[in-house]
Amino acid sequence: MLLYTGLLFFLTEFCQSASAEDLLSKHRFPDDFLFGVATSAYQIEGGQKGNGYGKNIWDYYMETYPGKFYSPGTAKIACDSFHKFREDVKLIKNLGVQFYRFSVSWGRVLPEGYSHNINKDGLRYYNDLINELLANGIRPMVTMYHGDLPLALHELGGWTNPYMAYYFEDYARVLYSYFGDRVKYWITFNGACIGYGDDGFVPFLNQSGIANYLCNQVLTLAHAKAYHLYDKEFRILQKGKIGIVFSGNWYEPGSFAVDDIEAAERAMQFKVGIYANPIFHPDGDFPKLVRERVHDVSRKEGYLRSRLPEFSREEVEYVQGTYDFLGFNCYTSFLVENVAEDTSEKTSFHKDLRVKTYQDKSWERGKSSWLGIYPEGTRKLLKWVKENYDDPEIIITENGFSDNGELNDVKRIKYYQKYLSAILDSIHEDKVNVKGFAAWSLLDNFEWMEGYSEKFGLYHVDFSDPDRKRTPKKSVQWYKKVVKERRIVELDEISSRLKGDL
Ligand code: NOJ
Repeated sequence: MLLYTGLLFFLTEFCQSASAEDLLSKHRFPDDFLFGVATSAYQIEGGQKGNGYGKNIWDYYMETYPGKFYSPGTAKIACDSFHKFREDVKLIKNLGVQFYRFSVSWGRVLPEGYSHNINKDGLRYYNDLINELLANGIRPMVTMYHGDLPLALHELGGWTNPYMAYYFEDYARVLYSYFGDRVKYWITFNGACIGYGDDGFVPFLNQSGIANYLCNQVLTLAHAKAYHLYDKEFRILQKGKIGIVFSGNWYEPGSFAVDDIEAAERAMQFKVGIYANPIFHPDGDFPKLVRERVHDVSRKEGYLRSRLPEFSREEVEYVQGTYDFLGFNCYTSFLVENVAEDTSEKTSFHKDLRVKTYQDKSWERGKSSWLGIYPEGTRKLLKWVKENYDDPEIIITENGFSDNGELNDVKRIKYYQKYLSAILDSIHEDKVNVKGFAAWSLLDNFEWMEGYSEKFGLYHVDFSDPDRKRTPKKSVQWYKKVVKERRIVELDEISSRLKGDL
């Protein structure tokens, strides 16, 4: 008995003194691994008055239905990066990262959405930004579309309208033509069907089980068009790479029950596969499991065709393989429980999917309601992708932690330590082809429906200051050292000073 108590005491003590940091990966990031930092146009630019800026869905819905947004505020000024981009480039340079992922505001370049009216001020802004980055040794990684759809195109049905694929192709042509001589990393989409099947996000279409699937198809075809256009007309001269970005949430069985294991795989296919399968799976098309399930439920509900639109044979072939890399925004994971069939339920994505998702109570959390911390999930997701698709080159295009904007952001540092550690293990242990990582975000910024109430920045922004003063948080010091030394840095290796970092 005494021996048992002693052993228990030793184990408890040992576990407590072995802090989380002791478990961090000791591997190093390969020499060709790229570090970066990310933002998106609408979340940081402001600069909407004058300058030929064309309105998008966010401008419209915030003005017209302010009550729908959780936190008051507009993005009219945001971080004012439209005027302060040279200062931003200095902040990026200070981090020592190799690339900056930002997005182009479609409506700033093509105010009406269509290609006949190109805004010179918009071109000048992005040209200046790209040149400033290159002059400072930072590679631009450009997202063509990050949520800010020009209003006129939305009025035509937005991403449910098949013609959007053509308008997107035209927009892509403008971008390649004006910026492609200097931009070598293009991202067509930051996965964008949110708000089509639900009422929680702009454009609040809320036609669940219909509009979200139409969006999936149109977006995929638009991506493929932009890819083929680059391949045919620009790649030979410009020699860049094109990818697409999806949400990299991992869905894990909540128990060992077969039903829950199947439910988790269903969730992966309905949430990740529906975007990735047509492009990355060797057979292309929407995942078989998703096609069969939506077809079956639609028929039982009395629809004369599946609510999931079909790709023709030619389209499947046209889309499959249109990538140079796969981008994932990795923040969190969900546990999955099977839900019994309920035929009386009305049509919805959730009825098709038939799962309940939740997060483990023991996970630490960020400020965002969905942000449970489970880095093992990211490692599992990366392995799942390697095994399910053709071992594509992967870039983690976003990863980050939300809080209230504290300068002494130790929790953010700990979050990054754990996720980067999981990524290192993916690279070295699981042999997943991860080639880059971008921290979200360079700056505290406009967090969509949550306005300015959740802060993800490495640099603090004072939104009450007309000059939007930027101040480095402790995480700047830490990330800078990680990038420089290409390994996970422990907390006690950076000074406790906050000021004087620049
Ligand atoms: C992913 C989105 O791409 C980005 O716009 C957003 O700010 C972050 N998630 C954090 O929610």
